[in-house]
Amino acid sequence: MARVLVTRRLTPGGTDPLLEAGHEIVTSDDDVPLSPADLEAGAADSDGIVCLLTDRIDAAVLEAGHAGRLRVVANAAVGYDNIDVARAHALGIAVCNTPGVLDATTADLAFLLILTATRNTSTAEDDLRHGRWDGWGFGTHLAHDVHGKTLGVIGYGRIGRAVAQRAAGFDMEVIHTSRTDTGLPGYVAELGTLLARADIVSLHVPLTESTRHLIGAAELAVMKPTAVIVNTARGPVIDEDALADALEARTIYGAGLDVFIGEPTVNPRLLRAPRTTLLPHIGSATIATRTRMARLACQGVCDVLAGVTPPNLV
Ligand code: DGY
Repeated sequence: MARVLVTRRLTPGGTDPLLEAGHEIVTSDDDVPLSPADLEAGAADSDGIVCLLTDRIDAAVLEAGHAGRLRVVANAAVGYDNIDVARAHALGIAVCNTPGVLDATTADLAFLLILTATRNTSTAEDDLRHGRWDGWGFGTHLAHDVHGKTLGVIGYGRIGRAVAQRAAGFDMEVIHTSRTDTGLPGYVAELGTLLARADIVSLHVPLTESTRHLIGAAELAVMKPTAVIVNTARGPVIDEDALADALEARTIYGAGLDVFIGEPTVNPRLLRAPRTTLLPHIGSATIATRTRMARLACQGVCDVLAGVTPPNLV
C-alpha cells in the first residue's frame, strides 16, 4: 500500500482507482490550494501525487519528493505546463496527464466561444440584463455569421480536430497549422497565411516556450477586421495586452477566452474589452469529463506504483 497525496477534492468516484488498489489517500478536508511549503512537505511524504493544473510542481517540490520516496506525479489535466517535467524525469519521477478523455467536452466549449464571440452574444445579453434593451431593432446587435465561414485551427491535435469536426456541421471551411505537416486537407504551413485567411481562429496548442505569446501584435495585425479569436488552450499563448489593443482599436472583431495569463486574476483590459466573451477556464468542466480525468490521473499513479507503464505517461 502506498501513500498518495491528492491535492484537491476530485469529483465523486474520481479516486476509485486508488481506493481499489488499496492505496492510502492523503487530502485536505477544506479543499483549498496547498501552499508551496505544503506541497513540498506532502511530496516528501508521498509515493505519488495527483494534482491540478493550479498546483505548481516545480523543482523544489520534486526534489523534496525525490529526497523521500516520490515516484509519480499525475496532473488531472491534459496540459502539464505547471509541472517541471524535465526536472521530474531527471529525478526519475514519472509524470502522467489526462489525454483523450476531455477532447469532445473542450471542443464543445471552444465551439460555444466561436458562436458567442462571432455573434457577440455577451454584449447582447449584457445589454438585456442591464436594462439597455429597448426593443427589437432591425439594426441592433448585428454581428457576423459562423456558418459558411473559414475556421483556422492552430494546433491540430485531438482537441483541434474535434473542433474541426464540429465546424463541418456549420458548413465551414477548416484550415489548420501544426508543428509538422499533417498531410491532411486544409493544412497551411505558415501561421501568417492561416491568420490572414481565417474568419475565426481557434487555439489548441500546449503552452511551451515556443507557443508563449504565439499570438502577439504582429499576428493580430494580419487578421481580418471581422475576425474572431478563441482561446481554450492556455492564457499565455496570447499576448493579452496586444489582444486588448486589437479589440479596442477594432482591428479584429471579437474574442472568446476561457484561459488567462494570471488566472484567476483577469487582465482588467480584457474585462473591459468590447465584443469579448470571458469564461473562467471551464473547457473540460462537465461532471462526466472531470470524473474521467480524475480516474485517468489516479490510474496513472496506480500503474506507475505497480511497475506498469501507463498509457498516459508524459
Ligand atoms: C486541461 O486539461 O489542460 C484543461 O485546461 C483543463 O481541463
